[in-house]
Amino acid sequence: MLHNLGSINLDHVYRVPHLVRPGETLASHDYRVGLGGKGANQSLAMARAGGRVCHWGRLGRQDAWARDSLARAGVDVTHVSLVDAPSGHAIIQVDDAGENAIILFRGANHGFRRADLEALVAATRPGDWLLLQNECNGLEQLLPLAAGHGLRIAFNPAPMSEAVSELPLPACQLLFLNRSEAAGITGLALEAGAEALLDALAERLPGCEVVLTLGGEGAWYQRGDQRHHQPALAVTAVDTTGAGDTFIGYYLAALQRGAVVADCLAQASAAAALAVQRPGAAESIPVAAEVARLLDDSTPPPAP
Ligand code: RIB
Ligand code: NA
Repeated sequence: MLHNLGSINLDHVYRVPHLVRPGETLASHDYRVGLGGKGANQSLAMARAGGRVCHWGRLGRQDAWARDSLARAGVDVTHVSLVDAPSGHAIIQVDDAGENAIILFRGANHGFRRADLEALVAATRPGDWLLLQNECNGLEQLLPLAAGHGLRIAFNPAPMSEAVSELPLPACQLLFLNRSEAAGITGLALEAGAEALLDALAERLPGCEVVLTLGGEGAWYQRGDQRHHQPALAVTAVDTTGAGDTFIGYYLAALQRGAVVADCLAQASAAAALAVQRPGAAESIPVAAEVARLLDDSTPPPAP
């Protein structure tokens, strides 16, 4: 069982002709509320991929439907508490090119107390995986606690913030990074190439496995001097929200099944390619059969 301490958000998604400019009032031509939050999306993706995941989260009492939809997907929600605080939410604009801009309200996601973190660690066994993102409070306490208990930590420092560089990152076994997170951690410019980012990550965090996702340039895995590249599938994006989370959930589910790195990357990229072609975050995450179909279709037939 993987444990994921992560955010649960209500995503308010507005379709707009372009992202709103300073001082502008813009009419939206579509509006929906759906389940989101990087933590919830990653748990849901892992469950849809067939993985076993227990979510630790906090949600406003009136929003139990969000917990129930995680449960329906097969996520263990025993440790999702309903609390007297507003739920976290995201105001998401998506333009006609599928590009987004997001305002986050942390709400209940930032109410973890030390006792909650200790309860999580006490419920795990050494060697278990713990997944974390950067949308909940308490990481600076939880990372050393979890590492001290022998947990294997997978960390996706999203959304990136300056506080991430202060965290004991070497305590993590596996980091999931996109370009801006990798640049933030290494101090390199956003324009840096994949090789430069990977070299700098190997130097800064020599003991960590890294999965670097670069959109159209595909994804890289690195451990020590071992590297593996997965090219991206060419697709037209409708809404990229939640695609990174889909990638992570599918990767971890494959890892949990004992798949080799190349397989984990292939599953994860195919799932993310499907997610960007659909609107919304959680609702855009494909099920395992869809991913399997896409992978079958994109594998060249064996030579006669
Ligand atoms: O990664 C996508 C998520 O980021 C959205 O679902 C939104 O809630 C924000 O947290
Ligand atoms: Na999407």
